[in-house]
Amino acid sequence: MSNKVIINHKISQFKKTINVSGDKSISIRWVLFSSLASGVSKAKNLLMSEDVKAALNAIKQFGIKSEFKNNICKIFGKGINGYKYKEKIVIDAKNSGTLGRLILGLLINSPYPVKLIGDKSLSKRDFTRVTKPLSKFGATFQLNKNKTLPLKIIGSKNLVPINYLENKGSAQCKSSIIFGGIRANGTTVIKARKSRNHTEILCKYLNLPITVKTKKNFDQIKIKNVKKIKPLNYNIPSDISSSAFFIVLTALTKNSRIIIKNININPSRIGIIIILRKMGVKITFKNQRIYKGEKIADIKVKSPKNLKSINCPSKLNSGAIDEFLVIFLVAAKAKGISFFKNLDELNQKESPRLKLGSEILNKIGIKTILTKNSIKIFGNPNLKVTKKIVIKNYLKDHRIFMTSVIAALSLGGNWTIHDKDSINTSFPHFMKIINNLKK
Ligand code: S3P
Repeated sequence: MSNKVIINHKISQFKKTINVSGDKSISIRWVLFSSLASGVSKAKNLLMSEDVKAALNAIKQFGIKSEFKNNICKIFGKGINGYKYKEKIVIDAKNSGTLGRLILGLLINSPYPVKLIGDKSLSKRDFTRVTKPLSKFGATFQLNKNKTLPLKIIGSKNLVPINYLENKGSAQCKSSIIFGGIRANGTTVIKARKSRNHTEILCKYLNLPITVKTKKNFDQIKIKNVKKIKPLNYNIPSDISSSAFFIVLTALTKNSRIIIKNININPSRIGIIIILRKMGVKITFKNQRIYKGEKIADIKVKSPKNLKSINCPSKLNSGAIDEFLVIFLVAAKAKGISFFKNLDELNQKESPRLKLGSEILNKIGIKTILTKNSIKIFGNPNLKVTKKIVIKNYLKDHRIFMTSVIAALSLGGNWTIHDKDSINTSFPHFMKIINNLKK
């Protein structure tokens, strides 16, 4: 089957209600917590993407079985110390930074070396951001010379708690240390710049010994050694990061409206909503509710008449970190110059997205000024792409593929977009939903 998509027509106006797939961050965390539980955990609407399958496969290496039937995933946990370690275990985190980084926190007591590998994109990403703090617990790491995968972790029996300052706003780093803290003897104290807090919410829901004190820019988290975790039955809400593509498609398509059902609108994840509202997009939350500590709602979006540029406050960066590529498209169509700053972390993703996002905007005729951590986008409300655009060799970044599809459908031009299979990382049904919107 062809692995590229050709688009040479804009989408016509639409008014639709859609469902997107389960939240990736929560799905991976559910797998990891359930693998430590005493008994069987069940999840509905688990994201069955490559990243989550890699997580299920990783726990299988330690003897933790799972089963997927009739849309329900079961994990047969064997308790907090139930991992069966043996020599020569290799875990393949594939494309998933979240899996690779979080699971290392759980492996700091491994009696044997465990090898962690990943795909080409993950093997370019820095792992010292977690191995350095995790080694303070007492674990030992052997990394590739570039601070990257493949790596080996060798755990310790005498794990000591640590004090850790997380200064990047990275939920992966924070969560990896929380998992380490669960294993260490004593109280681990984390001062973390604000970032998504699903791990803390799950710890609280599971009655684990965690406290979180919220300060203005930082949270102080204390986590103690955990003796037991109860099974975790969970109805996974849908992913705001997947809904982002449809929010932007609606914002950029005249006279359109969309309702996206059952989305996790955790305040640490709604950066895109706040940013797009400031740019003039009408977005409302319907049917708001709380589920196991997480906020859920249906998101309603109406296309606006005009889009305004934005000088994006850096405090919104972490809450929109996976959405900037599509947000840049809105800036490309807005009146005026938009400015996004302090975005060093965006170049640390599945691909260097700040740099590549700018490159794609230039391809469609939008002027940008790029620095190592910021971008100015010179918007053009009359932007109409008429050229041939080829999107190829972007490290198979799933979000670059999906952003390009949205650009093609909303801005016009003749697009050939390669690496369609990259969507299997986070959103396998993406093209199906796009095709239904066209009907
Ligand atoms: C994630 C955290 C973010 C995000 C990633 C998922 C998580 O990464 O980009 O897609 O589930 O914790 P960082 O924590 O590195 O910013």
